[in-house]
Amino acid sequence: MMASAPGKIILFGEHAVVYGEPCVSMAVNLRTKVSVQKSNYFESTVDGYSAYRQPHIRTALGILWKDGPVEITTKSEIPSAAGMGSSAALVVASAAALTKLGGSEVFEEQIARTGFEVEYAVQGTASPNDTSVSSHGSAIMLCKNKRDDLKFLWEIEKNGKRWFVHHCEFPDFNVVVGYTGARGRTSEQVAKVKNLVERYSFTRDVVKEIGQITEEGAKALAAGDLKKAGALMTKNHNLLAILGVDTPELQKLVNAALPTSYGAKITGAGGGGCMIALTENPDETAKAIESAGGKAYKVKLERRGVYVE
Ligand code: PMV
Repeated sequence: MMASAPGKIILFGEHAVVYGEPCVSMAVNLRTKVSVQKSNYFESTVDGYSAYRQPHIRTALGILWKDGPVEITTKSEIPSAAGMGSSAALVVASAAALTKLGGSEVFEEQIARTGFEVEYAVQGTASPNDTSVSSHGSAIMLCKNKRDDLKFLWEIEKNGKRWFVHHCEFPDFNVVVGYTGARGRTSEQVAKVKNLVERYSFTRDVVKEIGQITEEGAKALAAGDLKKAGALMTKNHNLLAILGVDTPELQKLVNAALPTSYGAKITGAGGGGCMIALTENPDETAKAIESAGGKAYKVKLERRGVYVE
């Protein structure tokens, strides 16, 4: 049984989403494939090693698999530990393959829920963003409330927190992801922003402003107004920099991308990791990012979420 699930980038709203503002992410055309078959070994394996060593798959097996040992192989195009949703894609694809191997049908909502449970169990805290967008594909807006101007997908609740996931209908556009090569630890960056938000009231205004930009950005993208969406991304980036999650390496890649793109910003937690640029010249933008020392990935909106072959 083979299942495949996409990685993701956050277009608008990271960090502010922790304080109840909306967040828009999209699936990208870099995918993880997971194959699962029943095995004759005495224990389950992942890529030839004991599954015990792979916490995400070990947890997924604990939730979804009651049968004997399985042999799992994974293959991923998504850079790991870069904030591009590689662990969510692994969890989502594994959950889908195991569900199907167990004889049940694969539904994206069910996989998004199970995937979130696995990420939550492994990481301690997690939002359902990555597993939802990887299951659904396309683009999603995660909100604190259910809204009627977007197609509602599902609602996920955990420890008194509630998230409403909506589909965003966007046209095709090009994004170049620039990876600094440095690992940004999400929990550290979230703690850093929390410290600022608790101490300084102006940072709470910054968070609110990011929320407004996210709303406007989603509308601009839906309308195909890339110029406006790009300008809003750059504005979002500058506000993230005020929140302290920019780094000299990220800023260098953003500066390099701006002359050939509509706009650029950090994507995800920051403190390392990746930036994105919205561009009509992906080759030129990618070249500029590489010249500035980043690793560039030319990506597109991936409409296809999780599927089983
Ligand atoms: O770096 P990523 O893709 O894991 O994104 C983190 C997004 C934050 O808003 C910073 C944290 C969160 O849980 O929403």
